[in-house]
Amino acid sequence: MPEVRPDLSVRIGPISMKNPLMVASGTHNLDYGELYPLDILGAYVPKTIRMHTWPGNPPPRTAEVPSGVVTSVGIPSKGWDAFVREDAPRLRALGIPVILSVVGKTEDEYAGMAERAGSLGFLAGVELNLSCPNIKAGGLAFGSDAKTAASLMDKVRKATSLPVIPKLPPDYGRVVEVAKACEDAGADAIAMINAPPAMVIDVDTRQPVLGNRTGGLSGPAIRPMAVYMIYRVYKAVRIPIIGMGGACDARDVIEFMLAGARAVALGTVNFFDPMAVPRALEGLREFTTTNGIDDINSLVGAAH
Ligand SMILES: Cc1cc2nc3c(=O)[nH]c(=O)nc-3n(C[C@H](O)[C@H](O)[C@H](O)COP(=O)(O)O)c2cc1C
Repeated sequence: MPEVRPDLSVRIGPISMKNPLMVASGTHNLDYGELYPLDILGAYVPKTIRMHTWPGNPPPRTAEVPSGVVTSVGIPSKGWDAFVREDAPRLRALGIPVILSVVGKTEDEYAGMAERAGSLGFLAGVELNLSCPNIKAGGLAFGSDAKTAASLMDKVRKATSLPVIPKLPPDYGRVVEVAKACEDAGADAIAMINAPPAMVIDVDTRQPVLGNRTGGLSGPAIRPMAVYMIYRVYKAVRIPIIGMGGACDARDVIEFMLAGARAVALGTVNFFDPMAVPRALEGLREFTTTNGIDDINSLVGAAH
């Protein structure tokens, strides 16, 4: 008799995914396709792009710490036109939902990219990286308060019919109200968390290690923080959550789902374990089979 496989499919708003596994923006690239077929993923999120070219932050850009890494890449970008020419055809060929991550310095930049994203005709959604400073608001991140996030969300909502997914900065004090404000302004889902601000100082030089002085902490070190924030946001919103922050394997994915995530992205783990994605997928199949879970959606929020 053929083996009956549990149903791993999930929906993020209108986006149908054959399983909940994604990759976190900026931690993966299409060359991983030489290691395993990328269409095993439920959905793909490429590195955040900007409308214009941008060199990124000065080196050094990474500092390893126990159970994680502090990075300050600064989202270098070759701009929209080069993205359309060079990356879009490869992303389209993946044959799975592709969610484009965008960032801007103004609301108009975000909205402009969201509009163009729709016109490409193959994208499944747009993720708004809200960790970028809003130059009109004195450099405060777009996701750092509810009003700024809602205003941006509203503008982007009007610019595209694609599903819009704001990606929230990990601010303990505000993350719930920012998530709710985004939902009220028409977000289809919430992605969380981005890397929390962090710093490493070299005791010999007495100076910060990173060229940008500060960076963001990612990897297993932040997993309990991410689980906590997802747990809280799940209680407050009805739209689906894409969880991330230190998830490395199937058990981590399940932990995020129990907290309230409907899909889960693997991020930093891709750098130190390039086969993490196929292993996590196999682990999800094993876990659901062994535990008699017919539908993986039954795990979502089950820890509440
Ligand atoms: C090297 C590096 C580059 C990243 N680039 C982006 C990016 O371009 N856009 C974005 O939204 N998040 C970016 N992130 C944040 C990740 O997508 C993710 O939200 C964060 O690292 C937490 O997940 P993780 O601990 O599993 O990596 C980056 C993280 C790292 C480590």
